[in-house]
Amino acid sequence: MSKPERWVIGNWKMNGSLASNAALLEAVRAQPAPAVKVAVCAPFPYLHQLQQALSGSDVQSGAQDVCEQGAGAYTGQVSAAMLREFGTSVVLVGHSERRQFNAESSELVAAKAAAALAAGLTPIICVGETLAQRQAGLAEATVAAQLAPCASLFAAASANVVVAYEPVWAIGTGITATPVEAQAMHAFIRAQLILISPSAASVSVLYGGSVKASNAKELFSQPDIDGGLIGGASLVAADFLSIVSAAA
Ligand code: 13P
Repeated sequence: MSKPERWVIGNWKMNGSLASNAALLEAVRAQPAPAVKVAVCAPFPYLHQLQQALSGSDVQSGAQDVCEQGAGAYTGQVSAAMLREFGTSVVLVGHSERRQFNAESSELVAAKAAAALAAGLTPIICVGETLAQRQAGLAEATVAAQLAPCASLFAAASANVVVAYEPVWAIGTGITATPVEAQAMHAFIRAQLILISPSAASVSVLYGGSVKASNAKELFSQPDIDGGLIGGASLVAADFLSIVSAAA
């Protein structure tokens, strides 16, 4: 059984400009830790810029969403094949901001992950509970329910799927789950994946939510945390590269 790979993925969210991206990409393309898989997920209009700026580097180009349909009358949507044409190799699906602001269900998220896989992309399946769910003792049940519709994907394609645990209460708030809290949920997720399929033991499980250069090392040293999904700190080259080094 292969071990989970180490990943650090930047999620730029709805940030950037041609000029600021150019400077950021120039800095991150020289990522310092070859053993860590690194990707940046940019808004759709910048994927061509990523394709050019990251050409010849080990940093992968990523998107933040994908349509579950292949083609047709889906105004405003972007297909997995289009992402591939722009050199994209990873795509976030089910980020909590899409679940919250675009009412994405876990079934839709699973369909998006399946469409990504079918096109040869690695879906980063995002899960995580809200503060209210955690306070009600429903954190594990929430995450298990979010993972369940993806079960067949974990069984069939575990080598090409990544899970990101992002507690909603830790995203952009400056409140990071403690390493102990994060490790506990990661161990739970790992156990759920293995229940679905023994081969899913090799799925990388990343932590996201206020990861910074100052806390990354301790989080990434937990046995079931295989790297991070980084929001705000991925917009600052020095911080992002320091987080990459912390995952090595
Ligand atoms: P922050 O790192 O800004 O908390 O964002 C986390 C996140 O949502 C990454 O997808």
